[in-house]
Amino acid sequence: MTPSTAAEVDLSTIDILDPKWFEDGPPHELFARMREEAPVRRNATAELGEFWSLTRASDIAAVSKDSSTFSSAQEGVFTVRDLVAPLELQRSVLLYKDPPDHTKYRKILQSAFVPATVNKMEDDVRAVVTRVIDDVIEQGECDAVGDLAVRIPLMVLADLMGLPDEDVPQLLEWTNAIEDSANTYEPAQAVDTFMAMAGYLHAQVERQIAEGNNDSLVMRLRNAEVEGEKLDDPEIMLFFALLVFAGNDTTRNTTSSGLRALLEHPEQLEKLRANPELLPQAVEELLRWTSVVQYFVRTATKDAEVGGQQIAEGDRLVMWYTAGSRDPERYEDPGTFDIERPEHAHMAFGGGGRHFCLGAGLARLELRIIFEEVLRRLQDIEIAGEPERRVSPWVNSLTRLPIRFTPGTREG
Ligand code: HEM
Repeated sequence: MTPSTAAEVDLSTIDILDPKWFEDGPPHELFARMREEAPVRRNATAELGEFWSLTRASDIAAVSKDSSTFSSAQEGVFTVRDLVAPLELQRSVLLYKDPPDHTKYRKILQSAFVPATVNKMEDDVRAVVTRVIDDVIEQGECDAVGDLAVRIPLMVLADLMGLPDEDVPQLLEWTNAIEDSANTYEPAQAVDTFMAMAGYLHAQVERQIAEGNNDSLVMRLRNAEVEGEKLDDPEIMLFFALLVFAGNDTTRNTTSSGLRALLEHPEQLEKLRANPELLPQAVEELLRWTSVVQYFVRTATKDAEVGGQQIAEGDRLVMWYTAGSRDPERYEDPGTFDIERPEHAHMAFGGGGRHFCLGAGLARLELRIIFEEVLRRLQDIEIAGEPERRVSPWVNSLTRLPIRFTPGTREG
């Protein structure tokens, strides 16, 4: 897509879900025009049905925070009702629940993700990152997606869940199968994958019970109790399926596109190398800049108004987080990549409502350690070939990022 296309196109006729807009990544110029000219825009030409597109941060936040008017459960959170799995099955998962069910489940799950638990993971996460970098450091080159970004969140998740290391390739296969289903618009394609994962986790629970391992996330979830409510095993398995989906390629994609952003802004990279204390702030800018989950959907449970536009009961609203993360009303000069940017309220983790990313603390920890170790150990990094991407309106995802660096030595 050339910038002039986004600048000239008739906004009233386009289908924003057309993959052509996403060939080179999120269509920021187009989103900027929509935000300016039609911030709550009716998309009436989609093959996948009609919906409203929200591109202003304030509208996204308002919809996200009003879950009684804007439901996740009613029609699901994708543009296609039965995407990934039949809606009935999806509704058993936290991401698709409305209150009061959501409140109850989230409380139980949150008890396993409290900051103290996440902070205790620093050493484990660093050990994973060290092992992954050790595997490439002597070569002086690698694919930053396949060799680094893919492996780290999967290994952290396996660690967290008390799953054996040798099962990581299997977890990767499942993640890819689910992501493929989310991108092909093949309804219910991932059911077999979910079933396979459920069977696998069941065996893992049995093993961990037999071994008396009470420390893994699986067992903590089994033991967690809030106001007398506990999760049963099928519910834990569905949560696990959500984590493999929600916690994995999100962190992977932020790592690879975040590294690309740093390599394409050498002055920012140098500033960060010289001032590693800027890393927590830089991680927030990487999250904002990449906003890898581009949208989720809500459905109006009653007639409502959003950004001055009348919304009818049953209408679907696509919240473009990636556009909200670059709203000039919220960010000064949003198209500039600035690791010292002061504001932190980007939309990479959602619009700030009750579904706000449960793993945000863990994701921030992982990203900080990944970039700390990559910058400390990989010297003179540069992009060594054309990056490749998955063309998708939903996920902002690189599939290949060849890099070159000065070979170093193993530490693990
Ligand atoms: C950079 C990495 C990540 C990004 C960009 C990301 C993004 C998101 C987004 C956009 C949402 C939906 C928010 C909403 O609709 O309001 C979400 C929800 C969620 N995320 Fe993340 N996520 C990341 C990492 C993780 C990790 C590491 C985990 C756990 C291991 C995780 C677990 C979840 C869960 C369980 C939900 C559902 C929460 C709910 O429905 O209440 N995420 N995430």
